[in-house]
Amino acid sequence: MKITVVNGTEKHGVTYRLKEIFLDGLRDQADITEFYLPKDCPNFCTGCITCFHGDENKCKDAEYIQKIERALLEADLLIFTSPAYVFHATGAMKAMLDHFGYRWMPHRPAKEMFGKRAVIITQCLGAGGKSAAKDIKDSLSWWGISDIRVLSFKLMSEIHWDKISEKKKNQMTLKLVNAAGKIKRIDFTKPARTGFITKCKFYAVRMLQSGLGKDNPEYTDYKYWKNNGWIDKIRPWK
Ligand SMILES: Cc1cc2nc3c(=O)[nH]c(=O)nc-3n(C[C@H](O)[C@H](O)[C@H](O)COP(=O)(O)O)c2cc1C
Repeated sequence: MKITVVNGTEKHGVTYRLKEIFLDGLRDQADITEFYLPKDCPNFCTGCITCFHGDENKCKDAEYIQKIERALLEADLLIFTSPAYVFHATGAMKAMLDHFGYRWMPHRPAKEMFGKRAVIITQCLGAGGKSAAKDIKDSLSWWGISDIRVLSFKLMSEIHWDKISEKKKNQMTLKLVNAAGKIKRIDFTKPARTGFITKCKFYAVRMLQSGLGKDNPEYTDYKYWKNNGWIDKIRPWK
């Protein structure tokens, strides 16, 4: 199984430890590629919209984005991690996700995404872990992924791994080991099932693209949908 991990922080803190515990449950059968933000995607999207116009290769950050995208498309399981920063995912994670705006379903989603599985790991001191996970989930679901599992933790006391109580560490470890065990039982030779909500989004966008294509058959996103056969009978899921 191929796993690609995108870490929303470079710090080897609590998020890192939780991710390591989760991966430990999968290492024996996984080929793992990891990215650390902001190091592996250091720049903000400047809104030039070159990617939306179909020229993602000309993005000033293409060298970073394409490397991450290749690893995401090749992986069977995607893992995204982030601590909560002011109730949200880290700015570095958001900056990376912005670069993939053109991959949202109303634009040019990658067909591979419809069969992927993903896990989001977030943690916080008191509150914000769930909304941090939602920041990431919003992008993944609009990329076309249906099978998204969220593992969100509240530390409630200490934020330094070495000072967290053994009881709390054991609770978190149990949850992570159980989740990794469930992932291990998945048959990764088969793509994930595309869910009802993803299909609803797909058909709504298909209607939108059909309309846009009638007005302008040269419209970038319409041409992409048409060339994939999605305006006709082909679907990005099996
Ligand atoms: C800039 C910043 C903002 C934070 N915002 C929140 C927050 O909104 N809610 C919360 O519970 N903890 C918040 N925290 C605490 C972190 O989520 C907590 O320290 C976390 O364990 C850090 O993870 P790490 O060790 O992986 O860096 C914040 C920390 C930082 C540095």
